[in-house]
Amino acid sequence: MDYHMSRKPRDRQHNSCRSRVLVLLIVVVTNIATFLLFSDASYEVGNGSGKHDRSVPFWNSGNITDYALAASHDELVHLHNHLATANSLVETLLGLKATASDMPAARDEQEHVGGDGFWQWELTGELQLAVGPHKLPLGFTKNLGSDQLYPTVGQACHRFPDELERYMDYKPGGECPSDEQFAQRLMLKGCEPLPRRRCRPRRPAGYVEPTPLRASLWATPPDTSIVWDAYTCKNYSCLVNRRKTKGSYDCKDCFDLLSGREKGRWMRDDGALSYSIDAVLATKPNGTVRIGLDIGGGSGTFAARMQERGVTVVTTSMNFDGPFNSFIASRGLVPMHLSIAHRLPFFDGTLDIVHSMHVLSHWIPDAMLEFTLFDIYRVLRPGGLFWLDHFFCLGTQMNTTYVPMFNQIGFNKVRWNARQKLDQGIKRNEWYLSALLEKPMT
Ligand SMILES: *[C@@H]1O[C@H](CO)[C@@H](O)[C@H](O)[C@H]1NC(C)=O
Ligand SMILES: *[C@@H]1O[C@H](CO)[C@@H](O)[C@H](O)[C@H]1NC(C)=O
Ligand SMILES: *[C@@H]1O[C@H](CO)[C@@H](O)[C@H](O)[C@H]1NC(C)=O
Ligand SMILES: *[C@@H]1O[C@H](CO)[C@@H](O)[C@H](O)[C@H]1NC(C)=O
Repeated sequence: MDYHMSRKPRDRQHNSCRSRVLVLLIVVVTNIATFLLFSDASYEVGNGSGKHDRSVPFWNSGNITDYALAASHDELVHLHNHLATANSLVETLLGLKATASDMPAARDEQEHVGGDGFWQWELTGELQLAVGPHKLPLGFTKNLGSDQLYPTVGQACHRFPDELERYMDYKPGGECPSDEQFAQRLMLKGCEPLPRRRCRPRRPAGYVEPTPLRASLWATPPDTSIVWDAYTCKNYSCLVNRRKTKGSYDCKDCFDLLSGREKGRWMRDDGALSYSIDAVLATKPNGTVRIGLDIGGGSGTFAARMQERGVTVVTTSMNFDGPFNSFIASRGLVPMHLSIAHRLPFFDGTLDIVHSMHVLSHWIPDAMLEFTLFDIYRVLRPGGLFWLDHFFCLGTQMNTTYVPMFNQIGFNKVRWNARQKLDQGIKRNEWYLSALLEKPMT
């Protein structure tokens, strides 16, 4: 399938009288075709998920292969354009729209979408396609309040034309460039979400089925489960062993599931900074903590321990210095590739628990931290728990900045432990705070 061919700017200038009859025919045919395509697709989605929501365009969800998706989307775009052209022509002909001279303006607008102020340079090719907007078929605009769909792209993407062009430079339908770290750096600059691409990430050679659940929670995956291009280490034993080396890495010892610290985390409550999962769960009626989120959850051990207790936890992680997302997934847990700056992709009042260890600390600019805390409050249900685990700051900042900040979010304090850091017996001006905070029930 030639992606470029099917995406050529379509000719919208069928503005001649001789085509009136043809136009009317097209209207009828494309309306029917569009209706059929959408009914079919909606049916598929409904079939798979047990839900049936016609207001959601089918390509947002469900059981359709990439190829079928691309193909049917292409057809749809094609049809929509015919339909839009045809309908506006009919309207014009019927006098519902001002005059035929309006059409070039409308066409210009359509062709220059993307180059409209927000983007400081003219978008072309794959990038323009990726950021849209894309015209919706009639009948799909009610819930959206718009007749166009804008694929989501990070607000800051428009500051980095060169990087963005590089990111979108690939062969559509082919293999994606091996650019994981580059893409992540772009995300951290605020270009998050990145634009979607129409390429396939390289597949690892020799992939085997994952370890079955339960055993998978504490199993190191085979080296053949991922492509190692993006990492210094080229196998898991290298990642496991780096905890013994001098280098400084993100979450240095968390790939060692057997002999390292991972196995013991959150299992013992020291009555101070280190809470145990069981003690935290015991603060709520048994079984009422069911779903949650671990922000910056390393290799996924928090989610693994929660899963052993019947709690489903999504783990956000970036892939700095290691394949964290793949590792979490290989354990049979849900990884989410999200930076700390991203609005949490959950609806208001939905989660029973949010946990975060080490990640939320004084390195995060105050304003951003405050927004993050309110966002956590937002996604928690009434009575939901926020477990702030080992928040780190300088002693002077604790009472002047952070205690007031935490206090004003609106949580109730269930537990609160602040401790000065001891470095070989010497007290430093560095403090840790662990807290169990509850969103009020009323
Ligand atoms: C997708 O749908 C087809 C046919 O409706 C079905 O055979 C297949 O199992 C489904 N796949 C998934 C992953 O649900
Ligand atoms: C793993 O990779 C390291 C270098 O990254 C290499 O020295 C070592 O031999 C590899 N081990 C295995 C088991 O492949
Ligand atoms: C919580 O409920 C489960 C299932 O009903 C039960 O097996 C478990 O022992 C209970 N735990 C506590 C601490 O009561
Ligand atoms: C913060 O204030 C509390 C009580 O007012 C005090 O006990 C604590 O030592 C102070 N912490 C720091 C780091 O100054």
